[in-house]
Amino acid sequence: MDLKHWKLSIDADSLAWLYFDRAGASTNTFSSEALRELGSIADHLGAMPPRAMAILSAKENGFAAGADIEEFTRLASAEEANAFLVLGNEVFDKVEKLPFPTVAMVHGFCMGGGTELALACRYRVMDDGPKTRMGLPEVLIGIVPGWGGAKRMPRLIGAAPALDLMLTGRAIDARRARKLGLVDVATPRRHFENAARTLLGNPPRPRKPAFGAAITDWPGIRNVVASKAAKQVAEKARRDHYPAPYAIIELWRDFGGDVRNVPKDHPASMTSLFQHPTTRNLIRIFTLQDRLKALGKGDGGIEHVHVIGAGAMGGDIAAWCAMRGLTVTLQDLAPDRISPAIKRAADLYKKRLREPHLVQAAMDRLVPDVKGDGAARADLVIEAIVENAEVKRKVFAGIEPRMKASAILASNTSSIPLQELASILKRPERLVGIHFFNPVAQMMLVEIVQGPQTAPEVMQAGQSFTRKIDKLPLPCKSAPGFLVNRVLSPYLLEAMLLVDEGVPPEALDAAMKDFGMPMGPIELSDMVGLDIGWAVGQELAKAGTPIPKKMQQLVEAKKFGMKTGQGFYTWVKGKAQKSHTGTGSVDLKALADRMVAPALNEAVACLREGIVADADLVDVGMIFGTGFAPHRGGPIQTIRERGKEEWLRVLADLKAKHGLRFEPDSGWSSL
Ligand code: NAI
Repeated sequence: MDLKHWKLSIDADSLAWLYFDRAGASTNTFSSEALRELGSIADHLGAMPPRAMAILSAKENGFAAGADIEEFTRLASAEEANAFLVLGNEVFDKVEKLPFPTVAMVHGFCMGGGTELALACRYRVMDDGPKTRMGLPEVLIGIVPGWGGAKRMPRLIGAAPALDLMLTGRAIDARRARKLGLVDVATPRRHFENAARTLLGNPPRPRKPAFGAAITDWPGIRNVVASKAAKQVAEKARRDHYPAPYAIIELWRDFGGDVRNVPKDHPASMTSLFQHPTTRNLIRIFTLQDRLKALGKGDGGIEHVHVIGAGAMGGDIAAWCAMRGLTVTLQDLAPDRISPAIKRAADLYKKRLREPHLVQAAMDRLVPDVKGDGAARADLVIEAIVENAEVKRKVFAGIEPRMKASAILASNTSSIPLQELASILKRPERLVGIHFFNPVAQMMLVEIVQGPQTAPEVMQAGQSFTRKIDKLPLPCKSAPGFLVNRVLSPYLLEAMLLVDEGVPPEALDAAMKDFGMPMGPIELSDMVGLDIGWAVGQELAKAGTPIPKKMQQLVEAKKFGMKTGQGFYTWVKGKAQKSHTGTGSVDLKALADRMVAPALNEAVACLREGIVADADLVDVGMIFGTGFAPHRGGPIQTIRERGKEEWLRVLADLKAKHGLRFEPDSGWSSL
């Protein structure tokens, strides 16, 4: 056969070895061409059956990442999207019906369509290494597992666990997959050939779910399972914001998990999802995430990081870097300032790495270093001490002569212009801003800040380092607040001013959750710490902006929020105690407009000033840096969707009522 994306050989034992090797790409994804080719291979083998077949990937990074998103985004109409769906189903059905045993041999990432192909095989073998993950993440881009995943996974492992995986989009490792019955064998990749020969040499009866899991897919029980799942989804996401999880439940409950059975006008159909703005926005964000990843390409050569300052940020940055495999030395003024950070690191590793030997190895990589000896060996020194330019300069003056000539110096400062810190350095071109967000373990974004003196290769090394520790780098210009804090700041300020006007914090939080933020502004401020919010606010406040009085009182009384147990809310066991009197007749949409409009205005200003390179980076930065309503696609997309003129009207009304802080930035005219 003449094959472009697949390699087929049949050995002397009559075993077929089919390798997926997408032409011209380093990652396997299913284009319609690759699917059609697989279909003809199945036809061919069906007519001249070998004894059995193993499907593998020829790519180092994984089995398959799913459908070719680039092709998917090029589809112009719902009809074309449907045709792509039908094609995948027909091809995977052919694989399922092959008259001989088949096994998918999975290593690296196996996502979406990759998992659906594996599910169409009779057996699955999975590499048990740390880089191998399997999942159905379609929900995260606003669609459903449409190539048979929603049909085959519930049958294989039971509906309740399958729904859990499909609704969260979570990817699991081999141990978990084996436990769920998703794979038959978990083994190191180097044993794949043996494992395939053993399994196919004496094929066992295909796996069935355990009774308890199996009954969740029975017709009588289905409704109960589905309503429980729908209730859980409703707690997290509204249907008009996120239709896909609801569609997944209905697809499974009412249509046997097969998208071909769903009428076009049904809200769970591909046509409905394809036309929904959320789907477009989530797919755009997904591709922009790849763009951020690409900004961090290259190795950067950073193996040893020295962190100065073991406080809230430095301690967690050090812990994260060690978890991601780097050697880390952690310096502070005294050992008792470092030990809380080491304890937090141990907690993080236990939660994330679980296996005791992995926890131990990460702990071994994180070395307390009061004297700062590590600075001489480090490839990167990250400063995360108090936010005071004078103190930082002093530390820089002491540390620079100890560093290797090739090493990079970075500051985690939130607000001090890099040029102010660089003035003390002999080699200012080696200073870059690497600005993490709090909490470090949860926030994906890191702003990489270019001062006027930063050398381009130092900037690139900062970006590559960020990628190496599995975060997303966003290159920014050095200006107060960079992108994320600058856009966030007027939004939070407006919320505080509304409190001063007597609006209950609960109503403000509800308004913004309604808009689609993961957390309201008052709860967020209490969580970050009102002292920190106050300091950033002071730094970024524009002349003439009113002072938020209630916030000032709380800061003066040292009621900083969650960490002190009292802020705008009282906090008990990490939870804000909100009053449940409801929001009554308050117009939540008007409240949301008043808080969002200044943020959008600031986003426009950042774009005009070139804080980041373009509108896409503004959007993706705010989504990964703050969780800005992902289904809306970011601030600039929010402007586009409701319309620039409409937002300008909102600003004009607000300016008439509340003054100049709502004056539209001059950048609106070039949007
Ligand atoms: P922190 O007050 O929790 O920790 C600062 C640590 O630096 C303390 O442990 C202190 O003992 C140590 N330190 C002070 N002077 C030192 C010196 N000369 N040598 C060694 N260690 C010294 O402060 P936090 O919140 O961790 O902030 C640190 C930096 O990170 C600041 O520049 C801040 O602007 C920035 N940042 C803070 C964020 C936050 O949410 N807290 C978010 C992003 C950046």
